[in-house]
Amino acid sequence: MNRIFSGIQPTNQLHLGNYLGALRNWVRLQDTAENFFCVVDLHALTVPQDPESLRRSTREVTAAFIAAGIDPERSVIFAQSTVPGHAELGWLLGTLTPMGWLNRMTQFKEKSGKHREESGLGLYSYPVLMAADILLYKGTHVPVGEDQKQHVELARDIAGAFNRRYGVEYFPLPEPVIQGQAARIMSLRDGSKKMSKSDESDYSRINLTDDADAIALKFRKAKSDSDNLPDTKDGLTGRPEAENLITIYAALSEQSVDQVVAQFAGSQFSKLKTELADLAVEKLAPIGARMRELMSDQAELDRLLKLGTERAAAVANPILRGAQDLMGLVR
Ligand code: TYM
Repeated sequence: MNRIFSGIQPTNQLHLGNYLGALRNWVRLQDTAENFFCVVDLHALTVPQDPESLRRSTREVTAAFIAAGIDPERSVIFAQSTVPGHAELGWLLGTLTPMGWLNRMTQFKEKSGKHREESGLGLYSYPVLMAADILLYKGTHVPVGEDQKQHVELARDIAGAFNRRYGVEYFPLPEPVIQGQAARIMSLRDGSKKMSKSDESDYSRINLTDDADAIALKFRKAKSDSDNLPDTKDGLTGRPEAENLITIYAALSEQSVDQVVAQFAGSQFSKLKTELADLAVEKLAPIGARMRELMSDQAELDRLLKLGTERAAAVANPILRGAQDLMGLVR
């Protein structure tokens, strides 16, 4: 049986990149495996968080999972910190992860930037906790956007290191599942940067809860260049903003990039932007509305999360105990 594990950090609002690169694929994969979808609050703490905002975001991301179509009956939805095994296995795996492997992680380099000496140990060991997330469930498939591929590959290496050290095939080697052209959605303000929750400008991203006016305004203000749209896909080369908007349109309308290029061949950018705004509103408005509805009943969200915690722990605890036994820990 395949076992899917994936997670999203409860930092700020979820955006179109999270939806098209991850969440929508989770919904589609839901019937192919046993699924664990996690709100990774311990990962969020690797950069400073306001406690009240973190609590709110954790519930909001839970609401987004459900609003996007994750069924809390068929899939296990829970918050990472409520299953202590994540942090415990994180420590155990850290004992067999060479620092050289972590030094290669591009996300750490990007996030720590010039402030390497001041950035926290948690930010550095972030990928080890991520490996623990997946391996704690013996996860086999990990649907993520392109930016997380390197971390999932590290999780494979760590699983391999554990198996070699203890001489058994204890952990399966998890595979990244990266789907389609929307695996890397770029900022609306700069086609060379990925759309990100942490970008200072809210105009750089479409949030799942943006209303129709905000969506239309953000696409209207999106960076563009002065040419009309090309009539072949090759014509997108060197035009990252045009490529990004066409990619988003293709993903939302479930067409290929070639089809969308043909549809807008020779048109002005403004035409694509207007139609893209209409399409995005049509696809996102029901999700935003459902999220608001779910957020208005916090007790129900908390009940669903608690149920998820119990189901997750029931799978995780024996796997953690097995690892502890292999490692020689007395229980
Ligand atoms: P996070 O919270 O940054 O992002 C959540 C998911 O959204 C995808 N994503 C994107 N996809 C396309 N275009 C974009 N611009 C874009 N931005 C984000 C990410 O690839 C991700 O799939 N480390 C993870 C969370 C995590 C995790 C895990 C994932 C913790 N433990 C275990 C899988 C398995 C992260 O920071 O995601």
